[in-house]
Amino acid sequence: MLPCQSVTLLLQQYFFLLLREFFNNQLMEKILVIGCSGQIGSELTLELRKIYGESKVIATDIRPAPSEVAGTGPFEILDVLDASKLQLILEHEKITQIYHLAAILSGNAEKRPLASWDINMRSLMNVLELARELRIPKIFWPSSIAVFGPTTPRFDTPQYTIMEPNTVYGISKLAGERWIEYYFNKYGVDTRSLRYPGLISYKTEAGGGTTDYAVEIFYEAIKHKKYECFLGPDSALPMMFMPDAIHATIDVMEADASKLSLRSSYNVAGISFTPKILAEEIKKHIPEFEITYKPDFRQAIADSWPARINDDVAKKDWGLHYEFDLPKMTYVMLHEVGKKLQ
Ligand code: NAD
Ligand code: SER
Repeated sequence: MLPCQSVTLLLQQYFFLLLREFFNNQLMEKILVIGCSGQIGSELTLELRKIYGESKVIATDIRPAPSEVAGTGPFEILDVLDASKLQLILEHEKITQIYHLAAILSGNAEKRPLASWDINMRSLMNVLELARELRIPKIFWPSSIAVFGPTTPRFDTPQYTIMEPNTVYGISKLAGERWIEYYFNKYGVDTRSLRYPGLISYKTEAGGGTTDYAVEIFYEAIKHKKYECFLGPDSALPMMFMPDAIHATIDVMEADASKLSLRSSYNVAGISFTPKILAEEIKKHIPEFEITYKPDFRQAIADSWPARINDDVAKKDWGLHYEFDLPKMTYVMLHEVGKKLQ
């Protein structure tokens, strides 16, 4: 055999081994999604089922699965505060990855501070404790730009900076970040997390956050050609289109552990804009669209958050990237929401 033929053979064997390793890993994974009926969970569940197989992703929520998720794979009602039931599912299904998405978001949390603190924190502690006891290999838990506060630099907010959140939601996310890092350092639980900006999507309703205006505006623009915004015209906030958020989430979960330089939560910047800028972008497609402004209690929350954050660490560590800018996101939102409302 010629030397070049044996090198080709070796390369082929190596490639085959890599492929087998990849498929074995995919086949062995069993994923639990907690909060699958929400804005992120509904889309993430479907994407995970595409990658890992329908039966490999157990979707759970305290309320029924939305129509897109129902019937696409296993679903169970689970109150994540019920640690015994959570343990039963984790053991019975031999879960290897948890995506814990259940939470009360910023706007709703301000209306019920103590109950929201209880749900956001106790659910995370249940997940972390069981992950430790049962040695669940990997956990994803999302944080938020809400971990920042009025004393944080508003522009190009660094990964490491002043963090003095003044909302119950932000306080729970900051405490959560400290806890997931603690469980990684102390017990070796492989925790991964992103500080999501406001997420924009058309499949499932937004869940009571301060950034929800950037979803509602599309429905109102198509239905009534006008929108009364609960934030003022110049409230700049970081936002992200859902397909980019889903890819970033799966990318950080699949990243080689050696690449992750932090175990609190990665800044994810997305695209920053104000209600006025978004309205101008919508007007390019619907010229008669009018926006008016009537700021409510969520204005103070928005004012305490950064306008634009810096995500260089995520880009460097595991290759965070985006496909959608404001014009592309606006085009797809108008198109998809338009189809939905027909
Ligand atoms: P959402 O409110 O749309 O969905 C949360 C889901 O959790 C809901 O389906 C709800 O029924 C479920 N849930 C609530 N309490 C539960 C309980 N006790 N047991 C089981 N399920 C329960 O929220 P989302 O927008 O999908 O957010 C998911 C996660 O991402 C949250 O942790 C949120 O803080 C975080 N996040 C979201 C955004 C955003 O813009 N959507 C931004 C930053 C961070
Ligand atoms: N979109 C979320 C909220 O407004 C940010 O975490 O609550």
